[in-house]
Amino acid sequence: MERKLVYDLPTRAFHWVFAGLFITAFTIAQTIDDDTAAFSWHMLAGLALGPVLLLRVLWGLAGTRHARFSDFVLAPGELRRYLRGIFTGDRTSWAGHNPASSWAAVGMMGLALAQVLTGWLMASGPDPEAFEDLHELSANALIILVGLHIAGVALHTLRHRDMLGRSMVDGRKANVTDGEAIRSPRSAFGLLFIALVAAFALQLWNNFDPGQRVVRILGTTLQLGEDGQPHAGPAGDEDAKGARHDDD
Ligand code: HEM
Ligand code: HEM
Repeated sequence: MERKLVYDLPTRAFHWVFAGLFITAFTIAQTIDDDTAAFSWHMLAGLALGPVLLLRVLWGLAGTRHARFSDFVLAPGELRRYLRGIFTGDRTSWAGHNPASSWAAVGMMGLALAQVLTGWLMASGPDPEAFEDLHELSANALIILVGLHIAGVALHTLRHRDMLGRSMVDGRKANVTDGEAIRSPRSAFGLLFIALVAAFALQLWNNFDPGQRVVRILGTTLQLGEDGQPHAGPAGDEDAKGARHDDD
């Protein structure tokens, strides 16, 4: 059967940028000591996730049919039916997100937002330790959900002999009717998404001072390491910068 277009380019671009930044931040957190200079990259990758999530939320309200949150199947009964179907051989297929991946998508986006917020509070607030446990807890919940998500995609592939994963690459799925397919991949919006994320990443890079291990963003100075004094204040606050320098 001909595979039909269901996921537009902004959704697919979001998926892989989100996965890439998450894997980068998580791998660095697990492998690099948090008082080394290289740990700054953990925070830069994590911070870059902020606008990525914001743009996805906007696209969830204004995107094409299967990108919209209103298309996600979140009714608990549908999730139960889907999970039972794994054992009973139910072959119902979904043009957009199935119930399990709808829940996984909402969970992953929500937990990633919690990571960025708690990370931000640790790097800008007077008491970084207050958010440390929460940051680690949501990171662990997130990695479990990501594992379940990948296992779910693999299980679907084996059960239905259908390469579901390809739908996040070329946007197409099998067993989709003409009425359920979308007409345009919205390529211009996809390219705009990539350009906006790249512009933010460049901005982060330009405002990153590897010597002091700080980044200035949205009028706040974030301390990207454990060896300096955590500091919040207006960007370019020379007194505070001097004070931290004296401490070093
Ligand atoms: C080999 C790896 C992966 C494959 C093949 C894959 C595939 C997919 C597919 C096919 C969907 C849509 C599911 C459906 O139509 O029911 C999806 C959604 C999603 N996946 Fe993955 N995924 C992978 C890895 C990841 C990773 C590592 C993350 C996060 C760190 C992730 C996060 C998400 C999110 C957030 C969604 C919802 C996307 C949206 O609605 O914008 N995925 N994935
Ligand atoms: C995808 C986003 C993120 C993920 C998955 C993530 C994950 C983690 C994990 C697993 C740890 C624990 C490392 C350990 O075992 O000690 C950690 C630590 C840390 N993260 Fe993140 N993080 C993210 C974003 C951020 C952001 C945006 C910031 C700050 C701007 C940040 C700041 C920190 C700091 C300061 C620590 C060290 C805490 C400590 O002293 O143990 N993270 N992160």
